[in-house]
Amino acid sequence: MIQPPVYYPFFDSIKETKRRLIEAPLQKVGNSYRIDFAAFEAKIIEEKVKLFILCSPHNPVGRVWQEEELHQLLAICQKHEVVVIADEIHRELILGDQQFVSAITVAQRLGIEKLIILDSPSKTFNLAGLLLSHVWIPDLEMRTTYHAWCRQYKQTEVNCFGLTAAKAAYESGDQWLADLLSVVATNEQMIRQQLQEAFPKIELLPLEGTYLLWVDLRQVIAKERTKHVIQDTAGLAVDYGEWFAKDGQGLIRLNLATTPTIIQQALDRMIEAIKKEERHDD
Ligand SMILES: Cc1ncc(COP(=O)(O)O)c(C=O)c1O
Repeated sequence: MIQPPVYYPFFDSIKETKRRLIEAPLQKVGNSYRIDFAAFEAKIIEEKVKLFILCSPHNPVGRVWQEEELHQLLAICQKHEVVVIADEIHRELILGDQQFVSAITVAQRLGIEKLIILDSPSKTFNLAGLLLSHVWIPDLEMRTTYHAWCRQYKQTEVNCFGLTAAKAAYESGDQWLADLLSVVATNEQMIRQQLQEAFPKIELLPLEGTYLLWVDLRQVIAKERTKHVIQDTAGLAVDYGEWFAKDGQGLIRLNLATTPTIIQQALDRMIEAIKKEERHDD
């Protein structure tokens, strides 16, 4: 089970391993996304769910799940013996006031051992090319099974450059990370200010965590025209809402992990393209 709108490879990983894909969509309440705990539990019971993939912080909606939310979520999973995989790759990318809490902290309090945490320095420290990630599995039996599976696919080696880079990043990357977060915050501010001023009806979701901004364009352009406007007219490569959820057309995900200069270029092009589309509509 997954919680759309969510990072689209989650859908693929379930389909490609020939599992049944169950969706417990996040609920939009006002200008933010929440977990509908009753619907989440009902889906588990109804569909006999065995495994839940949590995205924390959540890509693309930018939520940093709070301890109470995680507690409630994990307690439901524990009650119904659902194994949790928590993808925490965005854990260091916290922009708002909320503190990141790992699912492993909450699981320990609840006495849950059957839990898998996925993490990597690849997002925070821009090391994706060095192919290194880590998996934490507290339960010995589960860990042994995982190791056996890895051996079968000869996946036991890590890239030594990746290992060295990860060590350097975690041991001495604090300042770099602080600078990165400040650039992302500047980029976010620029986008909010300029987009909102040009088109007050564009909805920009709060960015508590990740460097990915979830933007709803449906009040300003027809949702079927989104790709035409953003890709063909503005010449921008963004991620489209329908990749993250069935009903996501008309939303886009903007990646803010770049320089303010590039963000300004993207903004100029986007604003011009949307204005052109509005004129075309008239
Ligand atoms: C939630 C989440 N998990 C995993 C990944 C993939 O990370 P990597 O590029 O290190 O494979 C991403 C990348 O966008 C992500 O957002």
